[in-house]
Amino acid sequence: MNRSNSRRSFIKRGTALMGGAFSAYSLFNQLYAADWEAKNLQYAGISDLEMAENEDYWSMIQQGYTASSSPVMNLNNGGVSPSPLVVQQAVERYNQLSNQAPSYYMWRILDQGREPVREKLALLAGCDPEEVAINRNATEALNTVIYGLDLQKGDEVIGSKQDYPNMMQAWHQRAQREGIVYKQLLFDFPIEDDDTIVAAYREAISPKTKIIHVTHVINWVGQIMPVKKICRMAHEHGIEVIVDGAHSFGLLDFKIPDLEGDYFGTSLHKYLSAPIGTGMLWVKKEKIGKIWPLLCNGDPKSTDIRKFETLGTRSFPLEQGIGEALNFHNGIGAKRKEERIRFLKNYWAEKAVKIPGVRIHTSLKPEYSCAIAGVSLENMTPQRLEQNLLARFKIHTSPISYENIHCVRVSPHVYTRLADLDKLVGALTILAEKHDPRDLEKQGV
Ligand SMILES: Cc1ncc(COP(=O)(O)O)c(C=O)c1O
Repeated sequence: MNRSNSRRSFIKRGTALMGGAFSAYSLFNQLYAADWEAKNLQYAGISDLEMAENEDYWSMIQQGYTASSSPVMNLNNGGVSPSPLVVQQAVERYNQLSNQAPSYYMWRILDQGREPVREKLALLAGCDPEEVAINRNATEALNTVIYGLDLQKGDEVIGSKQDYPNMMQAWHQRAQREGIVYKQLLFDFPIEDDDTIVAAYREAISPKTKIIHVTHVINWVGQIMPVKKICRMAHEHGIEVIVDGAHSFGLLDFKIPDLEGDYFGTSLHKYLSAPIGTGMLWVKKEKIGKIWPLLCNGDPKSTDIRKFETLGTRSFPLEQGIGEALNFHNGIGAKRKEERIRFLKNYWAEKAVKIPGVRIHTSLKPEYSCAIAGVSLENMTPQRLEQNLLARFKIHTSPISYENIHCVRVSPHVYTRLADLDKLVGALTILAEKHDPRDLEKQGV
């Protein structure tokens, strides 16, 4: 097949998936379709697991990100992930258009792109588009459900201390304001046994329990929680489950309904690499009617998922940029991406764990973690470790000292190079030395 034929067939296959109002102008199609298709043909028949170690393939993907040549190495993709260049350019293009005549281009032109984006998100999520609301982040998605549920004084909600602060605070506020009871489990991660986790939730259930709130991938240390097993157990007791999928969507290869939860909220600016400030809410169809919207709507009891999108004026360019991020993600493939990112985590963590004085706080078994691992050194606090990594090695990570978790969180992405991770391991080796004279603390920094 020649290049232009190959490109056309890739686009054709893609547009079935992409199908957006603006997909004909997709920068991804213009810039990458031919090269990526040729590479896929070159490696046809090789499993995604094997492809995880194929540097030739991944160097092509790395070139799609400006972050791969950043002077500061970003190993906090769990916080926010950068977008590929095509996504950045699409946002800029939509932004320039919007600024020609904002209300015309936003509400009459770009607005037409929302339904196609919804459909593309639903395709990736494996659900009905009528169950997908597009919003600004996981906090907004999950707070919509937390505040939108009818609960009475004395009703109980079970979560954990290792859930995300914004959601814990929302539950605490409901407890303070309305007298619901918010119980929090305390896990000692890593845990390599699903039954222990499921049993902890089960044992906390009382006749008053109405909701279980569970985080799919624990942001602090990357533990993958047995969400499906928790949902099945909860449903046996007539309890609904809210799933915080901020770190799982766009990273793990799964379909939202297969988790068997009732509600799922996620950011799209983490592993999907969509524009910063985009999120998604999934509500099981038959539950939409009973959730009150967070931002008021003319018909709050409506069964139309769009009632959760009364956000007022928001960024249409960011929203439309989601489509280009989906093109990029689908161009790699969900499973291949998951395997690569897990490989990257294991690549550095398996080396680091052998350095005297280094501890890894995350299970390295594939079923219990993917991108994130926590690391600590015997000879310094997580804050000192993070400061040393940044100031001396230009490596950006996230320090954590919270409850029973004290480590630095490291989270690579598809654009991370092996050389970057070698640099991280080299830095940990130096910093783990007990008498490193260059430690910032000794220099009084
Ligand atoms: C588990 C978890 N949930 C929710 C959020 C909130 O995401 P956002 O900032 O997109 O609202 C985060 C952010 O890091 C998170 O780690």
